[in-house]
Amino acid sequence: MIPSVLPTYTRAPLHFVKGEGTWLVEEDGRRFLDLGSGIAVNALGHAHPALVAALTEQAGNLWHVSNLYEIPQQQALADKLVAATFADTVFFTNSGTESCELAVKMARKYWYDKGQPEKTDIIAFEGAFHGRSSAGIAAAGSEKMIKGFGPVLPGFKHVPWGDHDALHAAIDEATGAILIEPVQGEGGIRPLPDHCLKGLRELCDEKGILLILDEVQCGMGRTGRLFAHEWAGISPDIMMVAKGIGGGFPLGAVLATEEAASGMTAGTHGSTYGGNPLGCAVGCAVMDHVADEAFLSDVNRKAGLLRQKLESLVAAHPEVFEGNRGMGLMLGLKCKLPPADLVRAGYDALVITVPAADNVLRLLPPLTITEDEIGEAVARLDTAAGAVTPSASSPV
Ligand SMILES: Cc1ncc(COP(=O)(O)O)c(C=O)c1O
Repeated sequence: MIPSVLPTYTRAPLHFVKGEGTWLVEEDGRRFLDLGSGIAVNALGHAHPALVAALTEQAGNLWHVSNLYEIPQQQALADKLVAATFADTVFFTNSGTESCELAVKMARKYWYDKGQPEKTDIIAFEGAFHGRSSAGIAAAGSEKMIKGFGPVLPGFKHVPWGDHDALHAAIDEATGAILIEPVQGEGGIRPLPDHCLKGLRELCDEKGILLILDEVQCGMGRTGRLFAHEWAGISPDIMMVAKGIGGGFPLGAVLATEEAASGMTAGTHGSTYGGNPLGCAVGCAVMDHVADEAFLSDVNRKAGLLRQKLESLVAAHPEVFEGNRGMGLMLGLKCKLPPADLVRAGYDALVITVPAADNVLRLLPPLTITEDEIGEAVARLDTAAGAVTPSASSPV
């Protein structure tokens, strides 16, 4: 018999009932160190007092009105995002997937309105993840995601990650945009080197193509800058945001330049919940913390410490780990064993991690993790690695 919850997820037998900062409490009382943050969502950890205050205050006043009316919290959050980024304008969504939908629509409408309706194609990269809608799976293009869900939305081309020649060869008269994650998340924490992102910007300018960045996972302070592309000193035309922007409240956004957004006039797009007062009140509180330079420099300092400790962890377990990679507090341990084995061993050691493709174990702790917690987290990862070490676990 089919379960009452549609069985699309493989779930660990854990029932968390409370979150406090970097800690998750299981219903049996066990306390887990959370290095997953609900897959890069809880940027300020669990039950951050400023977010609880923003949510409860708003909840006591007004939960929802339609986008038929002015929403001051939405305006305030858009103003903060515009002030802190390349963007001139923002549309609010409820998730990364919806941000992908709009990014695709916005690019196509741009070219349509410019009198070049043939420029519908978007070039994306192998190993990417952009969500699970029809546009999201077509954008990622992986066999695993699209199999059985055809016909696949047309207008996407895929080139191997880091293959410049393939990228150049893929560009033609129909190319309207290039879509890329500055750091691939689900693909295995693969950062795009700064010079490649710069090169991509130059290529887009030269060929007259829009650059769409997917910063759903790597944005909102995760890499130690408000958005990851800032490290390369470039800016996109359109950017997808979600996850950390709501700190755990379902919220997403598409940020764009005035030029790229020029086709999105009244009536061309909309959302019932997108930008609702509750989500935007929380989003404003998240932005007030994460966009602060002192907060970001603290993220960088802690990231350096964690990276250093991970180097020692990798050196101590050569049978388990090949190395570590990533940016800021978006880190991956490249494993010699299936990362799912380590995730499970982590549960026994009371530390939460997330698997990714390319045999990578993802570490995405709350950006508020403390130095002591970093030490404790790596000690627990050490225990987990010891438990899966082939020589230690094989019978003598
Ligand atoms: C880079 C990236 N884009 C898009 C998405 C889709 O976001 P959501 O699950 O909020 O729809 C994700 C989710 O993991 C993501 O990591």
